[in-house]
Amino acid sequence: MPAFIRRAAPLAAAVALLTAATAALHVEAGSTAKPAAAPAADAKSIERGRYLARIAGCNDCHTPGYAQTGGKVDEKLWLTGDSLGWQGAWGTTYPSNLRLALAKMTEQEWVRVAKSAQFRAPMPWFALHDMSEADLRAIYRYVRHLGPAGEPAPAYLPPGQAAKGPVIAFPGQAH
Ligand code: HEC
Repeated sequence: MPAFIRRAAPLAAAVALLTAATAALHVEAGSTAKPAAAPAADAKSIERGRYLARIAGCNDCHTPGYAQTGGKVDEKLWLTGDSLGWQGAWGTTYPSNLRLALAKMTEQEWVRVAKSAQFRAPMPWFALHDMSEADLRAIYRYVRHLGPAGEPAPAYLPPGQAAKGPVIAFPGQAH
């Protein structure tokens, strides 16, 4: 090997390392919009999560058309959020796109959020607080198994702000 290559080789290796480190930094910097590391595939808890999405009401609100069609919505669309608003004294809320929301959290973050956050009505956040950690993890793994899809739900509107699309109006609402 010519001397200059022998000298250059460690340098090239160093450059390659540096490039890799820089690339990693870029990934890190842009990671807020990227999915958190994929959870361990675990068929049993994925199936449990699928079951919970069906029987714990998540699909009823977070899957467009689910309640109206008696659950006849392609699984590909499950939990992608809805643009049908829920209007009441709290303003107008839209069931979030859980496929996108959970892709931005680690499983640990999800458990913490689900156990402590209080979302606006009619989201039954209290049901999430009461859910076992195993069931919360199952929901997370199922949603991550489905993967991110769809668009974010419309933004929350405070009381008095008119909604553009259809809403389900609760009695005693503030328009
Ligand atoms: C009665 C309708 C309804 C049901 C049932 C329901 N949700 Fe919601 N959910 C909503 C609405 C509306 C919002 C938006 C609340 C807000 O704007 O604060 C929401 C918000 C959320 C959020 C916050 C997401 C974010 O954007 O940070 C999570 C997480 C969530 N729901 C999970 C669930 C899970 C899991 C289930 C099933 C156990 C469920 N929801 C059942 C209506 C519902």
